[in-house]
Amino acid sequence: MAIISSKQQPIEPDPKPKQRRESKDDRKTPKASPKLDLLQPTATSDETDKLEEGLRPQRFADYIGQKDLKTVLEIAIKAAKGRGETMDHLLLYGPPGLGKTTMALILAAEMGTTCKITAAPSLERPRDIVGLLVSLKPGEILFIDEIHRLTRMAEELLYPAMEDFRVEIAIGKGQSARTRSLPLSPFTLVGATTRVGSLTSPLRDRFGLIHRLHFYEPEELTEIVLRSADLLKTPIDREGAEEIAGRSRGTPRIANRLLKRVRDYTQVKNLGKIDRKIADEALEVFNVDPRGLDWTDRKVLSVMIDNFKGGPVGIETIASATGEDVQTIEEVYEPYLMQIGFMLRTPRGRMVTPAAWQHMGYK
Ligand SMILES: Nc1ncnc2c1ncn2[C@@H]1O[C@H](COP(=O)(O)OP(=O)(O)O)[C@@H](O)[C@H]1O
Ligand SMILES: [Mg+2]
Repeated sequence: MAIISSKQQPIEPDPKPKQRRESKDDRKTPKASPKLDLLQPTATSDETDKLEEGLRPQRFADYIGQKDLKTVLEIAIKAAKGRGETMDHLLLYGPPGLGKTTMALILAAEMGTTCKITAAPSLERPRDIVGLLVSLKPGEILFIDEIHRLTRMAEELLYPAMEDFRVEIAIGKGQSARTRSLPLSPFTLVGATTRVGSLTSPLRDRFGLIHRLHFYEPEELTEIVLRSADLLKTPIDREGAEEIAGRSRGTPRIANRLLKRVRDYTQVKNLGKIDRKIADEALEVFNVDPRGLDWTDRKVLSVMIDNFKGGPVGIETIASATGEDVQTIEEVYEPYLMQIGFMLRTPRGRMVTPAAWQHMGYK
């Protein structure tokens, strides 16, 4: 059964660590280092444990940043409560670690209800999803992670559930088979995906609210680090938090992870309060790039600089030179490089900016 109860637990093993092929012209790039996995935005298994759950904001007021999303949802919640109805189905999309699961749990708290959490890959058999749907209590929130991975069958069971709160089930076999329509309690589906482009349009069309999560600004990440440090009872000053924030790829999950590593370092070395110097020192030890670039980011930039004088370069070329697929470059790497002003999109291809040249050690 695919129900993962209202308290979040590890849902699935981590996606396989990406195989990184190294091409022959590897001159200026650092070798892939396991330490750089600190910068992977997907959750590691120990990040789905109790301690991590303690860092997750529980209410709107603690959810830092994503102002547009919060505004839209606050209105939706008020309106739904005012009418005594469930909120519209909500689709959240954006890179991993930006707060999609967190927002689903907050919605439940704000609506005064519970949230059942599952992920598309555990809804493979029709009876998984039917069982889950009929078990929903009135007003409950159903969170489906990685919703772009639903099977065709699961999707088709979801359509009438989302539209009319009913589910069609087949009874009997062969000649005597009939379908019966079972009523469901009204519920709100919250879907999350990193790949909104892979969603079928009939599914996408059934969400009343569709919202994208953005990378966080450095000031927002600084607030997140300060908040987490407080919860972890770790002394830190604002500049120390800023240093960690600046290396967190715009991603709260990475900010929290780096904070924990800096905390370990500070504790072992008995350094007391984390300040900028200590944070900088610690993150250098852990091999975290000052702008949070990981091996692939650096590879992308160095390929563009070394082989194409900074561009313009086509996305396919970048993908094949780095051994990543086009979609990963477009969805994971490029958005962050553009966010920090290291890469530009032009009609003729991608270009590296002077800031990136400088960061990579070229004049
Ligand atoms: N807006 C936020 N404010 C504070 N912390 C956040 C925020 N968004 C995410 N986090 C932290 O980052 C972690 C990862 O968020 P999560 O919701 O699991 O990301 P996603 O589901 O998008 O991959 C959470 O455990 C939480 O501690
Ligand atoms: Mg999640």
